[in-house]
Amino acid sequence: MLNKIGLIGGGMIGGVLAQEVVSRRLARTVALVDIKPPDLAKGKCLDIAEGTPHIGSDVDYVAGKEFNVLDGCDLVINTAGVPRSVRPDGTFPTREELLKINLKITDDVSEGIRTFCKDALIVSIANPLDAIVYTLYRNLKPERNKILGMAGALDGARYRYFVAKAANVSVSNVQAMVLGGHGDTMVPIRSCCRIAGMPVTSFISEEELSSIEDRTRKAGGEVVGLLGSGSAFVSPAWSALSMVEAIAYDKQEIIPSCVLCQGEYGIDNLFVGVPTILGRNGMEKIIELDLTSEESAALQHSVSAVKTTCGEVDKMKG
Ligand code: LAC
Repeated sequence: MLNKIGLIGGGMIGGVLAQEVVSRRLARTVALVDIKPPDLAKGKCLDIAEGTPHIGSDVDYVAGKEFNVLDGCDLVINTAGVPRSVRPDGTFPTREELLKINLKITDDVSEGIRTFCKDALIVSIANPLDAIVYTLYRNLKPERNKILGMAGALDGARYRYFVAKAANVSVSNVQAMVLGGHGDTMVPIRSCCRIAGMPVTSFISEEELSSIEDRTRKAGGEVVGLLGSGSAFVSPAWSALSMVEAIAYDKQEIIPSCVLCQGEYGIDNLFVGVPTILGRNGMEKIIELDLTSEESAALQHSVSAVKTTCGEVDKMKG
């Protein structure tokens, strides 16, 4: 159990996170900050707290509009930012198109973390994922093990779910990994996909796998299109919580995360999704696995997309 988990942003993902941190008893205290008046963060936390007698959880909360509620957090999860949402004409933005608006919010978030919990581990969910993690790093310069982006956990879960349905087996039988940036260039790694240890191609045709992988790459947008307002929130929250549980219980669990690569996979100083071992120190290790030449090329393509968006950050911040 951690002492205090801070949640930055009390929107749809932040709300699920608060509820789950309390019901899973992941910390003694949960802190929620959101600027929305009159006091969205307090309202969400009070609602959860008043339900706790039914689940017997004594996790305490602090909440409010100011970053001071984060005082002393040992881990923070950042969801602050505008999500993708369907426009009146039925189209919706790419994650990258959220950069401009979410960059300023990320600067405020960085200031809050710096002032009240500068040593906290950071798990960031806000989009565009890789560029926001890079911005937090640029602003705060934490040790590289302490800053992680949640993307592979979610993209991998989507891939696993689609494979499980196609093979008609339990989701817990399916292992799969998605690497690269959290955008349309993400790379489902077919060579790592297994069903109860057996190659996925023993269960599903190559053709069907290709369409599953395509659906995985676009899965965030599929949900945006269906919801009509906002983007996926339960699966992103649960995915981040898998990472937080790996850290809180020092599980040394392999979960792909967006971390600073310094030479791994030939990636030089860029935050990209790669397989990581998560434990009490956050990112304990990056695993360098053998990819097929196709997968390697796709990963490098995704890396250049991330590089472009991070270049935008540098331009905007000067
Ligand atoms: C998604 C958003 C949260 O993939 O990035 O649904």
